[in-house]
Amino acid sequence: MTIDPSTRLISPIGDDDDESLRPKRLADYVGQETIKEQLAIAIAAARARGEALDHVLLHGPPGLGKTTLSRIIANELGVSIKTTSGPAVEHQGALASMLTSLNSRDVLFIDEIHRLNRIVEEALYPAMEDFMFDIVSGRGTMANVLRLPLKRFTLIGATTRAALLTGPLRDRFGLVFRLDWYDLPAMQQLLERAARVLKVTMEDLGGQEIAQRSRRTPRVALRLLRRVRDYAQVMAEGIITLEVARDALKALGVDELGLDELDRRILDVILTRFKGRPVGLENIAASIGEEADTIMDVYEPYLIQIGFLQRTPRGRIATEEAARHLGVPYYDANDQLRLF
Ligand SMILES: Nc1ncnc2c1ncn2[C@@H]1O[C@H](COP(=O)(O)OP(=O)(O)O)[C@@H](O)[C@H]1O
Ligand SMILES: [Mg+2]
Repeated sequence: MTIDPSTRLISPIGDDDDESLRPKRLADYVGQETIKEQLAIAIAAARARGEALDHVLLHGPPGLGKTTLSRIIANELGVSIKTTSGPAVEHQGALASMLTSLNSRDVLFIDEIHRLNRIVEEALYPAMEDFMFDIVSGRGTMANVLRLPLKRFTLIGATTRAALLTGPLRDRFGLVFRLDWYDLPAMQQLLERAARVLKVTMEDLGGQEIAQRSRRTPRVALRLLRRVRDYAQVMAEGIITLEVARDALKALGVDELGLDELDRRILDVILTRFKGRPVGLENIAASIGEEADTIMDVYEPYLIQIGFLQRTPRGRIATEEAARHLGVPYYDANDQLRLF
């Protein structure tokens, strides 16, 4: 059986998240222990005082659980959540109507908050700080500012690119959390929970195998689990054993480290075509026919994390470990060729 590997299997972006797999409570949210502890305290304190929680900024690579956490926070606070994203809030009016629709202590979730336009972002400052929305009418010396009071609310912002946030915006968040990649036990736990929800029988070793190839990213793990489940159902009486997991992942083009075809092509372009010299992002993008932004946000973080890729001022470099993994020649700093 062949499975179409072009379906961006390991890409941690995408909107195919299965709602039934999203944990609703902090206690069911796997890993990120430090964040959970701090949040639990902040939430309990805010609840006890009957106040809105401080504004929260969640940042980190895609697929690690930012959206999920924002919903859990609202749930644990016992309030409603309204969701939007940076590019969707096109003008101040759109922001005003969202803010005025919030009840006291509600959560407003802005995904990709680094993509808010500047005018909207600046209108957000007094809202976050003083719970006031300034409506400006007229221009220049004739301008009038009407201050519209808002209910006290909690803004939760999420971003994959914290570095692109302006200082003034970042400073207005009282709670700032960076989500980190998950360790293997956490990934396994997450997969076991998901297997129970999906009612699929998964042996420990099968779960371990999927966990190892999931790029330490929940979204990837869940996506692989669904594909392996299909494979098990059609090829192996529905049980995910070690062998079934291995065969399925092989058919999907996901290697032992969780790299897929595109990861390997990125590394191969640098190592083989450019003979290990630093390569600009645009060059890589053109060589493999993929968007530079996608490579930067989706593929690179994990390759950097496992030490296969480095960002240098002169361009991207693939490491000796990457060459060894791919089994391609490696040219060191002195242009000496090494073969694996
Ligand atoms: N800590 C976690 N525990 C359990 N499931 C998680 C966790 N983090 C993420 N997930 C699952 O992974 C998927 C992606 O999470 P999401 O919150 O959408 O990521 P992000 O918003 O950071 O891109 C969701 O379907 C969610 O169910
Ligand atoms: Mg998200």
